[in-house]
Amino acid sequence: MIVAIDGPAGAGKSTIAERVGAALGFTYLNSGAIYRAVTWKALQLNQPDAEPQRIAAIAGELELTYQDGVLYVDGQRRDDALRGEAIDRYVSRHSAVQPVREMVNNRLRAIASRQDVIVEGRDIATVVFPDADVKIYLDASVEMRAQRRWEQQESDLTLDEIRRRIAERDELDRKKRTGSLKQAADALYLDTSVLTIDEVCETVIKTIRETQQYREQQRTYGR
Ligand code: DC
Repeated sequence: MIVAIDGPAGAGKSTIAERVGAALGFTYLNSGAIYRAVTWKALQLNQPDAEPQRIAAIAGELELTYQDGVLYVDGQRRDDALRGEAIDRYVSRHSAVQPVREMVNNRLRAIASRQDVIVEGRDIATVVFPDADVKIYLDASVEMRAQRRWEQQESDLTLDEIRRRIAERDELDRKKRTGSLKQAADALYLDTSVLTIDEVCETVIKTIRETQQYREQQRTYGR
């Protein structure tokens, strides 16, 4: 079964997807982390400004494995490194390279063919899994998203700078030729500015449990 969650940076996708995945026993996949891994590698090679063709080649050579919902990049878990500021600066551009998108999409589809997944990103319900069993679009105001990032204290940036960067990244993500951020017509829209994390998780879990696919799996496997 496939649950697709899309939305802008800071809308709460990772937190929600991780919690719901744990509650229902679904593998959690963070597609943004794979794009970040490509940028991490380009930075390691000192080529973040390289031509799209070179970025595509770097993505092709990257050693990526997903094990028990954990992403290993070139053999190691690099969660903190993937959230760095330099990565934020380049990842939108790298994620607009078409062969990079194909590499990421193929990996996500291969993993989803073997297990129940909850996948988050920007184009999951529209491009990667247009036939997903459940589609959720998580949104929140720019102010709220900036506030959350600031409270996470991952950088020395002021609240205003964070807000400006989020707005810039939104703009880049929306303007991409393919894989741009869009709400699928059949996605459930949830505004996390006005809901608590618990409320959002409850709604998503309820939505999944009400699907025919989930009920059939329950009957068959007794999960
Ligand atoms: O969700 P995130 O901030 O970790 O995503 C990192 C970047 O990757 C961001 O600029 C948007 C891009 N991205 C994308 O283009 N498509 C996805 N499915 C997920 C992320």
